[in-house]
Amino acid sequence: LHIAVLMGGWSAEREVSLSSGAGVAEALESLGHRVTRIDMARDVAARLAEANADLVFNALHGTPGEDGSVQGLMDLMGLTYTHSGMATSVIAIDKVLTKQALVPHGIPMPGGRIVKSAEVFEADPLARPYVLKPVNEGSSVGVAIVTDQGNFGNPIARDAKGPWAEFDELLAEPYVRGRELTTAVLGGDDGPRALGVTELRPKSGWYDYDAKYTDGMTEHLFPAPIPDEITTACMALAVDAHRLLGCRGASRSDFRWDDERGVDGLFLLEVNTQPGMTPLSLVPEQARHTGMSYPELVQAIVDEALR
Ligand code: DAL
Ligand code: MG
Repeated sequence: LHIAVLMGGWSAEREVSLSSGAGVAEALESLGHRVTRIDMARDVAARLAEANADLVFNALHGTPGEDGSVQGLMDLMGLTYTHSGMATSVIAIDKVLTKQALVPHGIPMPGGRIVKSAEVFEADPLARPYVLKPVNEGSSVGVAIVTDQGNFGNPIARDAKGPWAEFDELLAEPYVRGRELTTAVLGGDDGPRALGVTELRPKSGWYDYDAKYTDGMTEHLFPAPIPDEITTACMALAVDAHRLLGCRGASRSDFRWDDERGVDGLFLLEVNTQPGMTPLSLVPEQARHTGMSYPELVQAIVDEALR
């Protein structure tokens, strides 16, 4: 096949996407496909038309790219592309819309509310500890955890410089103490299946951008050393979320688990419809643990798009 790999762009996760895209392109070439690499710019429609590929492998992350805009464009152009379609992407990139879509179906997610970012410099929007996050970013860009002991992640600067100045509104959620867990879901002929559960133990204590993409900064434990009941729950919830949102190809559901509260302490934080494909990313790692190489995973995502 001739496959265009769409990557880069101008979201906050540009560098992550370039890394995902480079890995995917190399894997596709190793599988014998012809690859055109496209670093997304404003002329993306012209570049996609010019490539005239059989398929577009979407290796974009963040906004735009993971948010439905590019998916809508590709729908209009009649292109076949990997991962989720427009409507799913619009909902899943938005942490508030995701709660509205999943909580009524019994998926446990932390409560929360939208606050004007200017307000959080004046007063705590929730009882501490709580998390402040942009509604539609990935890779922990702009996330802060506010505790009585201080702020972790991106500190809240009272002069509103730094990442906070960019966001008019933020989502405030109660912080779930305990453990960080993640589950990949991969579509296939027999429907979506969960690959397992990984526990992330960042050496710094917070799984922020640096802990995600710097080799050696986070311990990845697979299978996660947690009770079977929690493993089963993560896998079932991740498949349910994938189905309820209408995800396609691969998705990854991220959880927090308060290990003092048993299964009642398990909360889905979000569903990633364009999960990372970098050397330190979790979907390829879980695939490898289940006996699927990186190129085999890439081919499975391609096959799912062509089904
Ligand atoms: N947002 C990053 C790429 C991830 O979910 O893996
Ligand atoms: Mg995310």
